[in-house]
Amino acid sequence: MKAPLQWGVFFCLKIALDINMENYKNKILVTGGAGYIGSHTCIALHEAGYEVVIYDNLSNSSFEAVNRVSSLIGQPIDFIEGDIRDADSLRQVFAAHQFFGVIHFAGLKAVGESVAKPLMYYDNNVSGTITLLKIMAEYEVKKLVFSSSATVYGDPEILPINEDSPRSCTNPYGQSKLTVEHVLEDLALSDNSWSLIPLRYFNPVGAHPSGQIGEDPNDIPNNLMPYISQVAVGKLDKLSIFGNDYATVDGTGVRDFIHVTDLAQGHVAALNYLKQQKQSLGFLPINLGSGKGTSVLELVRAFSAVSAKDIPFQFVGRRAGDIASCYASADKAQELLGWKASLSITDMCQDTWRWQSMNPNGYNSI
Ligand code: NAD
Ligand code: WQD
Repeated sequence: MKAPLQWGVFFCLKIALDINMENYKNKILVTGGAGYIGSHTCIALHEAGYEVVIYDNLSNSSFEAVNRVSSLIGQPIDFIEGDIRDADSLRQVFAAHQFFGVIHFAGLKAVGESVAKPLMYYDNNVSGTITLLKIMAEYEVKKLVFSSSATVYGDPEILPINEDSPRSCTNPYGQSKLTVEHVLEDLALSDNSWSLIPLRYFNPVGAHPSGQIGEDPNDIPNNLMPYISQVAVGKLDKLSIFGNDYATVDGTGVRDFIHVTDLAQGHVAALNYLKQQKQSLGFLPINLGSGKGTSVLELVRAFSAVSAKDIPFQFVGRRAGDIASCYASADKAQELLGWKASLSITDMCQDTWRWQSMNPNGYNSI
Protein backbone atom coordinates (compact mmCIF):
# COMPACT_ATOMS: atom_id res chain seq x y z
CA MET A 1 0.00 0.00 0.00
CA LYS A 2 1.30 3.46 -0.86
CA ALA A 3 1.91 5.90 2.03
CA PRO A 4 -1.04 8.33 1.35
CA LEU A 5 -3.43 5.40 1.07
CA GLN A 6 -2.12 3.94 4.34
CA TRP A 7 -2.69 7.26 6.08
CA GLY A 8 -6.20 7.44 4.59
CA VAL A 9 -7.09 3.99 5.93
CA PHE A 10 -5.58 4.90 9.30
CA PHE A 11 -7.66 8.11 9.61
CA CYS A 12 -10.88 6.35 8.53
CA LEU A 13 -10.31 3.66 11.16
CA LYS A 14 -9.53 6.27 13.78
CA ILE A 15 -12.70 8.25 13.00
CA ALA A 16 -14.77 5.03 13.14
CA LEU A 17 -13.15 4.16 16.48
CA ASP A 18 -13.76 7.67 17.87
CA ILE A 19 -17.44 7.54 16.82
CA ASN A 20 -17.73 4.13 18.42
CA MET A 21 -16.10 5.40 21.64
CA GLU A 22 -18.46 8.38 21.72
CA ASN A 23 -21.48 6.08 21.27
CA TYR A 24 -20.21 3.82 24.00
CA LYS A 25 -19.75 6.80 26.32
CA ASN A 26 -23.38 7.74 25.72
CA LYS A 27 -25.23 4.46 26.21
CA ILE A 28 -26.85 4.04 29.60
CA LEU A 29 -28.78 1.14 31.10
CA VAL A 30 -31.66 2.49 33.17
CA THR A 31 -33.12 -0.13 35.52
CA GLY A 32 -36.58 0.83 36.73
CA GLY A 33 -36.78 3.37 33.89
CA ALA A 34 -40.54 2.88 33.45
CA GLY A 35 -41.19 4.16 36.99
CA TYR A 36 -41.90 7.63 38.30
CA ILE A 37 -38.38 9.04 38.65
CA GLY A 38 -36.92 6.77 35.95
CA SER A 39 -39.33 7.91 33.22
CA HIS A 40 -38.54 11.60 33.86
CA THR A 41 -34.83 10.83 33.93
CA CYS A 42 -35.01 8.99 30.58
CA ILE A 43 -36.34 12.18 28.99
CA ALA A 44 -33.61 14.31 30.58
CA LEU A 45 -30.96 11.80 29.46
CA HIS A 46 -32.25 11.84 25.90
CA GLU A 47 -32.28 15.66 25.88
CA ALA A 48 -28.68 15.62 27.11
CA GLY A 49 -27.63 13.35 24.23
CA TYR A 50 -27.52 10.01 26.05
CA GLU A 51 -28.88 6.83 24.52
CA VAL A 52 -31.11 4.94 26.93
CA VAL A 53 -32.00 1.28 27.35
CA ILE A 54 -34.76 0.74 29.93
CA TYR A 55 -34.83 -2.51 31.89
CA ASP A 56 -37.93 -2.89 34.08
CA ASN A 57 -40.18 -5.73 35.22
CA LEU A 58 -43.22 -3.38 35.29
CA SER A 59 -44.03 -4.58 38.83
CA ASN A 60 -44.86 -1.01 39.85
CA SER A 61 -45.27 0.76 36.53
CA SER A 62 -47.07 0.66 33.26
CA PHE A 63 -45.89 0.22 29.68
CA GLU A 64 -48.00 3.28 28.91
CA ALA A 65 -45.33 5.36 30.70
CA VAL A 66 -42.74 4.02 28.25
CA ASN A 67 -45.04 4.87 25.32
CA ARG A 68 -45.45 8.39 26.60
CA VAL A 69 -41.71 8.86 27.11
CA SER A 70 -41.23 7.72 23.49
CA SER A 71 -43.81 10.19 22.24
CA LEU A 72 -42.31 13.04 24.32
CA ILE A 73 -38.82 12.42 22.94
CA GLY A 74 -40.19 11.85 19.43
CA GLN A 75 -38.65 8.43 18.88
CA PRO A 76 -39.05 4.87 20.17
CA ILE A 77 -37.16 4.11 23.34
CA ASP A 78 -35.34 0.81 23.81
CA PHE A 79 -37.30 -1.16 26.43
CA ILE A 80 -36.60 -4.63 27.83
CA GLU A 81 -39.03 -6.26 30.23
CA GLY A 82 -36.94 -8.07 32.81
CA ASP A 83 -36.12 -8.46 36.47
CA ILE A 84 -32.84 -7.33 38.07
CA ARG A 85 -32.75 -10.62 39.99
CA ASP A 86 -32.62 -12.55 36.69
CA ALA A 87 -28.89 -12.90 35.98
CA ASP A 88 -29.35 -14.61 32.59
CA SER A 89 -31.70 -11.95 31.33
CA LEU A 90 -29.26 -9.21 32.46
CA ARG A 91 -26.37 -11.06 30.78
CA GLN A 92 -28.26 -10.97 27.48
CA VAL A 93 -28.74 -7.24 27.82
CA PHE A 94 -25.08 -6.56 28.63
CA ALA A 95 -23.97 -8.86 25.80
CA ALA A 96 -26.14 -6.97 23.31
CA HIS A 97 -25.11 -3.42 24.32
CA GLN A 98 -21.93 -1.69 25.34
CA PHE A 99 -22.87 0.54 28.25
CA PHE A 100 -20.95 3.46 29.68
CA GLY A 101 -22.78 2.96 32.98
CA VAL A 102 -25.98 2.08 34.78
CA ILE A 103 -28.57 4.22 36.53
CA HIS A 104 -30.25 1.89 38.96
CA PHE A 105 -33.78 2.92 39.96
CA ALA A 106 -35.34 -0.56 40.10
CA GLY A 107 -36.63 -1.27 43.57
CA LEU A 108 -39.67 -1.42 45.78
CA LYS A 109 -40.34 1.72 47.80
CA ALA A 110 -43.38 1.50 50.11
CA VAL A 111 -42.28 1.77 53.75
CA GLY A 112 -45.45 0.18 55.22
CA GLU A 113 -45.37 -2.73 52.77
CA SER A 114 -41.71 -3.32 53.64
CA VAL A 115 -42.64 -3.76 57.31
CA ALA A 116 -45.27 -6.37 56.33
CA LYS A 117 -43.08 -8.09 53.70
CA PRO A 118 -39.42 -7.63 54.66
CA LEU A 119 -38.18 -10.66 52.70
CA MET A 120 -39.75 -9.31 49.53
CA TYR A 121 -37.97 -5.97 50.05
CA TYR A 122 -34.54 -7.43 50.89
CA ASP A 123 -34.82 -9.88 48.00
CA ASN A 124 -35.86 -7.28 45.45
CA ASN A 125 -33.76 -4.32 46.58
CA VAL A 126 -30.65 -5.98 48.03
CA SER A 127 -30.38 -9.33 46.19
CA GLY A 128 -31.49 -7.64 42.97
CA THR A 129 -28.75 -5.01 43.27
CA ILE A 130 -26.12 -7.64 44.06
CA THR A 131 -27.11 -9.61 40.95
CA LEU A 132 -26.90 -6.44 38.87
CA LEU A 133 -23.44 -5.60 40.27
CA LYS A 134 -22.17 -9.13 39.54
CA ILE A 135 -23.25 -8.91 35.91
CA MET A 136 -21.81 -5.39 35.60
CA ALA A 137 -18.48 -6.77 36.86
CA GLU A 138 -18.64 -9.64 34.35
CA TYR A 139 -19.01 -7.14 31.52
CA GLU A 140 -16.53 -4.62 32.97
CA VAL A 141 -19.18 -1.91 33.32
CA LYS A 142 -18.13 -0.29 36.58
CA LYS A 143 -20.01 2.98 36.78
CA LEU A 144 -23.24 3.06 38.74
CA VAL A 145 -25.63 5.79 39.85
CA PHE A 146 -27.89 4.33 42.54
CA SER A 147 -31.24 5.59 43.86
CA SER A 148 -30.60 5.98 47.54
CA SER A 149 -32.77 7.98 49.89
CA ALA A 150 -32.68 10.55 52.68
CA THR A 151 -34.29 7.76 54.70
CA VAL A 152 -30.73 6.44 55.34
CA TYR A 153 -30.20 9.42 57.71
CA GLY A 154 -32.96 8.23 60.06
CA ASP A 155 -33.88 10.96 62.57
CA PRO A 156 -31.21 13.59 61.91
CA GLU A 157 -29.47 15.31 64.81
CA ILE A 158 -28.31 18.29 62.76
CA LEU A 159 -30.06 20.17 59.96
CA PRO A 160 -29.45 20.65 57.10
CA ILE A 161 -28.27 17.06 56.60
CA ASN A 162 -24.93 16.65 54.86
CA GLU A 163 -23.49 13.46 53.38
CA ASP A 164 -21.30 12.76 56.44
CA SER A 165 -24.26 12.68 58.83
CA PRO A 166 -24.71 9.41 60.74
CA ARG A 167 -26.86 6.80 59.01
CA SER A 168 -29.51 4.57 60.59
CA CYS A 169 -32.88 3.19 59.55
CA THR A 170 -35.99 2.03 61.30
CA ASN A 171 -37.82 0.03 58.62
CA PRO A 172 -36.93 -2.71 56.11
CA TYR A 173 -37.24 -0.38 53.11
CA GLY A 174 -34.71 2.04 54.62
CA GLN A 175 -32.50 -0.85 55.73
CA SER A 176 -32.51 -2.22 52.19
CA LYS A 177 -31.20 1.15 50.88
CA LEU A 178 -28.61 1.39 53.65
CA THR A 179 -27.51 -2.22 53.07
CA VAL A 180 -27.01 -1.53 49.37
CA GLU A 181 -24.93 1.53 50.31
CA HIS A 182 -22.75 -0.72 52.53
CA VAL A 183 -22.41 -3.22 49.66
CA LEU A 184 -21.30 -0.39 47.35
CA GLU A 185 -18.80 0.93 49.91
CA ASP A 186 -17.26 -2.52 50.38
CA LEU A 187 -17.15 -3.12 46.65
CA ALA A 188 -15.34 0.19 46.08
CA LEU A 189 -12.85 -0.71 48.84
CA SER A 190 -12.20 -4.13 47.34
CA ASP A 191 -11.57 -2.90 43.79
CA ASN A 192 -10.64 0.68 42.96
CA SER A 193 -11.90 0.52 39.39
CA TRP A 194 -15.52 1.14 40.43
CA SER A 195 -17.28 4.51 40.46
CA LEU A 196 -20.41 4.19 42.60
CA ILE A 197 -22.62 7.21 43.24
CA PRO A 198 -25.59 6.78 45.55
CA LEU A 199 -27.82 9.80 45.05
CA ARG A 200 -29.76 10.36 48.25
CA TYR A 201 -33.10 11.80 47.18
CA PHE A 202 -35.12 13.87 49.62
CA ASN A 203 -38.88 14.07 48.82
CA PRO A 204 -39.44 13.83 45.03
CA VAL A 205 -42.74 15.35 43.83
CA GLY A 206 -44.13 17.03 40.71
CA ALA A 207 -44.50 15.79 37.17
CA HIS A 208 -43.33 16.50 33.63
CA PRO A 209 -44.59 19.96 32.53
CA SER A 210 -46.41 18.33 29.58
CA GLY A 211 -48.78 16.59 32.01
CA GLN A 212 -48.06 13.34 30.14
CA ILE A 213 -46.04 11.51 32.79
CA GLY A 214 -46.14 11.63 36.57
CA GLU A 215 -46.47 9.63 39.76
CA ASP A 216 -49.12 6.91 39.49
CA PRO A 217 -49.61 5.12 42.81
CA ASN A 218 -51.27 1.72 42.51
CA ASP A 219 -53.46 2.10 45.52
CA ILE A 220 -54.36 4.80 48.04
CA PRO A 221 -51.20 6.93 48.14
CA ASN A 222 -48.86 6.71 51.14
CA ASN A 223 -47.04 9.91 50.30
CA LEU A 224 -48.25 13.43 50.89
CA MET A 225 -48.25 15.05 47.43
CA PRO A 226 -50.16 12.31 45.56
CA TYR A 227 -52.63 12.17 48.46
CA ILE A 228 -53.24 15.94 48.27
CA SER A 229 -53.67 15.84 44.49
CA GLN A 230 -56.17 12.98 44.71
CA VAL A 231 -58.19 14.95 47.26
CA ALA A 232 -58.08 17.98 44.93
CA VAL A 233 -59.33 15.94 41.96
CA GLY A 234 -62.13 14.44 44.06
CA LYS A 235 -60.89 10.84 44.26
CA LEU A 236 -60.31 11.04 48.02
CA ASP A 237 -62.47 12.89 50.55
CA LYS A 238 -59.94 14.51 52.81
CA LEU A 239 -56.32 14.50 53.84
CA SER A 240 -55.31 13.25 57.28
CA ILE A 241 -52.36 15.29 58.53
CA PHE A 242 -50.21 13.08 60.73
CA GLY A 243 -49.41 15.24 63.73
CA ASN A 244 -49.64 18.97 64.47
CA ASP A 245 -47.50 18.94 67.61
CA TYR A 246 -44.01 18.74 66.12
CA ALA A 247 -41.46 21.41 67.03
CA THR A 248 -41.74 23.01 63.59
CA VAL A 249 -43.00 26.27 62.12
CA ASP A 250 -46.69 25.24 62.40
CA GLY A 251 -46.53 21.89 64.24
CA THR A 252 -46.72 19.75 61.07
CA GLY A 253 -43.82 17.77 59.60
CA VAL A 254 -41.21 19.59 57.52
CA ARG A 255 -39.67 18.01 54.40
CA ASP A 256 -37.37 18.93 51.54
CA PHE A 257 -39.57 18.58 48.44
CA ILE A 258 -37.74 18.37 45.16
CA HIS A 259 -39.26 18.58 41.68
CA VAL A 260 -38.82 15.29 39.80
CA THR A 261 -37.47 17.10 36.71
CA ASP A 262 -34.79 18.77 38.87
CA LEU A 263 -34.03 15.32 40.24
CA ALA A 264 -33.78 13.95 36.69
CA GLN A 265 -31.26 16.71 35.85
CA GLY A 266 -29.28 15.63 38.92
CA HIS A 267 -28.79 12.22 37.28
CA VAL A 268 -27.62 13.81 34.05
CA ALA A 269 -25.17 15.93 36.07
CA ALA A 270 -23.88 12.80 37.85
CA LEU A 271 -23.28 11.02 34.52
CA ASN A 272 -21.60 14.08 33.03
CA TYR A 273 -19.36 14.18 36.09
CA LEU A 274 -18.51 10.49 35.65
CA LYS A 275 -17.64 11.14 32.02
CA GLN A 276 -15.22 13.91 32.95
CA GLN A 277 -13.25 11.80 35.41
CA LYS A 278 -9.89 10.35 34.42
CA GLN A 279 -9.85 8.11 37.49
CA SER A 280 -12.45 6.01 39.24
CA LEU A 281 -14.39 7.69 42.02
CA GLY A 282 -14.95 4.83 44.46
CA PHE A 283 -18.01 5.36 46.66
CA LEU A 284 -19.33 8.91 46.41
CA PRO A 285 -22.71 9.63 48.07
CA ILE A 286 -24.46 12.87 47.07
CA ASN A 287 -27.68 14.45 48.39
CA LEU A 288 -30.28 15.58 45.89
CA GLY A 289 -32.54 18.01 47.69
CA SER A 290 -33.53 21.65 47.41
CA GLY A 291 -31.99 22.57 50.76
CA LYS A 292 -35.29 24.11 51.88
CA GLY A 293 -37.84 22.78 54.35
CA THR A 294 -41.59 23.09 53.69
CA SER A 295 -44.25 22.05 56.18
CA VAL A 296 -47.20 19.80 55.39
CA LEU A 297 -49.60 22.70 55.92
CA GLU A 298 -47.54 24.99 53.68
CA LEU A 299 -47.69 22.41 50.90
CA VAL A 300 -51.45 21.96 51.32
CA ARG A 301 -51.97 25.74 51.06
CA ALA A 302 -49.69 26.04 48.01
CA PHE A 303 -51.54 23.20 46.25
CA SER A 304 -54.91 24.70 47.06
CA ALA A 305 -53.79 28.06 45.63
CA VAL A 306 -52.54 26.68 42.29
CA SER A 307 -55.42 24.27 41.77
CA ALA A 308 -58.11 26.66 43.06
CA LYS A 309 -59.51 23.64 44.93
CA ASP A 310 -60.38 23.32 48.56
CA ILE A 311 -58.27 20.58 50.21
CA PRO A 312 -60.25 19.43 53.25
CA PHE A 313 -58.01 18.05 55.99
CA GLN A 314 -58.11 16.84 59.57
CA PHE A 315 -55.31 16.53 62.11
CA VAL A 316 -54.76 13.01 63.37
CA GLY A 317 -52.03 11.44 65.50
CA ARG A 318 -48.41 11.15 64.37
CA ARG A 319 -47.59 8.36 61.92
CA ALA A 320 -45.28 5.73 63.42
CA GLY A 321 -41.68 6.20 62.29
CA ASP A 322 -42.15 9.80 61.07
CA ILE A 323 -39.62 12.44 62.00
CA ALA A 324 -40.27 16.15 62.63
CA SER A 325 -37.97 17.76 60.08
CA CYS A 326 -35.69 16.70 57.28
CA TYR A 327 -33.92 18.84 54.70
CA ALA A 328 -30.71 18.57 52.78
CA SER A 329 -27.48 20.38 52.52
CA ALA A 330 -27.23 20.42 48.74
CA ASP A 331 -23.71 21.94 48.72
CA LYS A 332 -21.87 18.80 47.61
CA ALA A 333 -24.11 18.39 44.54
CA GLN A 334 -23.46 22.00 43.61
CA GLU A 335 -19.69 21.82 44.20
CA LEU A 336 -19.05 18.51 42.43
CA LEU A 337 -21.83 18.24 39.87
CA GLY A 338 -22.64 21.91 39.33
CA TRP A 339 -26.26 20.96 40.04
CA LYS A 340 -28.86 22.65 42.14
CA ALA A 341 -32.63 22.47 42.28
CA SER A 342 -34.28 25.32 40.43
CA LEU A 343 -38.02 24.74 40.66
CA SER A 344 -40.25 26.10 43.43
CA ILE A 345 -43.01 24.60 45.56
CA THR A 346 -45.49 26.41 43.29
CA ASP A 347 -43.94 24.72 40.22
CA MET A 348 -44.15 21.34 41.98
CA CYS A 349 -47.84 21.86 42.79
CA GLN A 350 -48.69 23.23 39.33
CA ASP A 351 -47.07 20.31 37.51
CA THR A 352 -48.57 17.72 39.86
CA TRP A 353 -51.98 19.29 39.36
CA ARG A 354 -51.64 19.33 35.56
CA TRP A 355 -50.70 15.62 35.55
CA GLN A 356 -53.45 14.70 38.04
CA SER A 357 -56.21 16.65 36.31
CA MET A 358 -55.24 15.42 32.83
CA ASN A 359 -54.95 11.82 34.10
CA PRO A 360 -57.35 11.41 37.03
CA ASN A 361 -56.72 7.66 37.01
CA GLY A 362 -53.03 7.83 36.16
CA TYR A 363 -51.94 5.77 33.17
CA ASN A 364 -55.29 3.96 33.23
CA SER A 365 -57.10 7.18 32.36
CA ILE A 366 -57.24 6.48 28.62
P1 NAD B 1 -41.29 3.46 41.03
O1 NAD B 1 -41.88 2.32 41.75
O2 NAD B 1 -42.18 4.37 40.27
O3 NAD B 1 -40.14 2.96 40.04
C1 NAD B 1 -39.37 1.81 40.30
C2 NAD B 1 -39.38 0.97 39.04
O4 NAD B 1 -38.60 -0.20 39.29
C3 NAD B 1 -40.77 0.50 38.65
O5 NAD B 1 -40.98 0.78 37.28
C4 NAD B 1 -40.76 -1.00 38.90
O6 NAD B 1 -41.59 -1.70 38.00
C5 NAD B 1 -39.29 -1.32 38.74
N1 NAD B 1 -38.83 -2.51 39.47
C6 NAD B 1 -39.05 -2.81 40.77
N2 NAD B 1 -38.45 -3.97 41.08
C7 NAD B 1 -37.84 -4.41 39.94
C8 NAD B 1 -37.06 -5.55 39.64
N3 NAD B 1 -36.82 -6.51 40.54
N4 NAD B 1 -36.58 -5.67 38.38
C9 NAD B 1 -36.85 -4.73 37.44
N5 NAD B 1 -37.58 -3.64 37.69
C10 NAD B 1 -38.06 -3.47 38.92
O7 NAD B 1 -40.43 4.30 42.11
P2 NAD B 1 -39.73 5.71 41.98
O8 NAD B 1 -40.45 6.65 42.87
O9 NAD B 1 -39.50 6.05 40.57
O10 NAD B 1 -38.34 5.38 42.70
C11 NAD B 1 -37.21 4.96 41.96
C12 NAD B 1 -36.12 4.59 42.94
O11 NAD B 1 -35.84 5.71 43.78
C13 NAD B 1 -36.50 3.44 43.87
O12 NAD B 1 -35.35 2.63 44.06
C14 NAD B 1 -36.86 4.14 45.17
O13 NAD B 1 -36.63 3.33 46.29
C15 NAD B 1 -35.92 5.33 45.14
N6 NAD B 1 -36.42 6.48 45.91
C16 NAD B 1 -37.68 6.95 45.67
C17 NAD B 1 -38.16 8.01 46.41
C18 NAD B 1 -39.55 8.51 46.20
O14 NAD B 1 -40.09 9.16 47.10
N7 NAD B 1 -40.19 8.28 45.06
C19 NAD B 1 -37.34 8.62 47.37
C20 NAD B 1 -36.05 8.13 47.56
C21 NAD B 1 -35.60 7.05 46.83
C1 WQD C 1 -44.24 13.70 54.18
C2 WQD C 1 -44.93 14.39 55.35
C3 WQD C 1 -46.05 12.89 56.84
C4 WQD C 1 -49.12 11.55 54.06
C5 WQD C 1 -41.23 8.86 52.41
C6 WQD C 1 -40.36 7.67 52.73
C7 WQD C 1 -38.95 7.98 52.36
C8 WQD C 1 -38.84 8.45 50.91
C9 WQD C 1 -39.81 9.54 50.60
C10 WQD C 1 -38.27 6.66 49.47
C11 WQD C 1 -44.75 13.67 56.68
C12 WQD C 1 -47.04 13.80 56.18
C13 WQD C 1 -48.03 12.20 54.63
C14 WQD C 1 -50.41 11.84 54.53
C15 WQD C 1 -49.46 13.42 56.07
N1 WQD C 1 -39.13 7.42 49.98
N2 WQD C 1 -48.20 13.11 55.61
N3 WQD C 1 -50.53 12.77 55.53
O1 WQD C 1 -42.40 10.09 55.05
O2 WQD C 1 -41.01 12.10 54.38
O3 WQD C 1 -40.77 9.98 53.15
O4 WQD C 1 -41.13 9.16 51.01
O5 WQD C 1 -37.12 6.56 49.73
O6 WQD C 1 -38.24 6.81 52.57
O7 WQD C 1 -40.45 7.42 54.13
O8 WQD C 1 -42.82 11.30 52.85
O9 WQD C 1 -44.81 12.06 51.63
O10 WQD C 1 -45.01 10.07 53.17
O11 WQD C 1 -44.67 12.34 54.15
O12 WQD C 1 -49.61 14.23 56.97
O13 WQD C 1 -51.42 11.27 54.08
O14 WQD C 1 -46.33 14.40 55.10
O15 WQD C 1 -46.40 12.67 58.18
O16 WQD C 1 -44.63 14.63 57.68
P1 WQD C 1 -41.76 10.88 53.99
P2 WQD C 1 -44.38 11.39 52.88
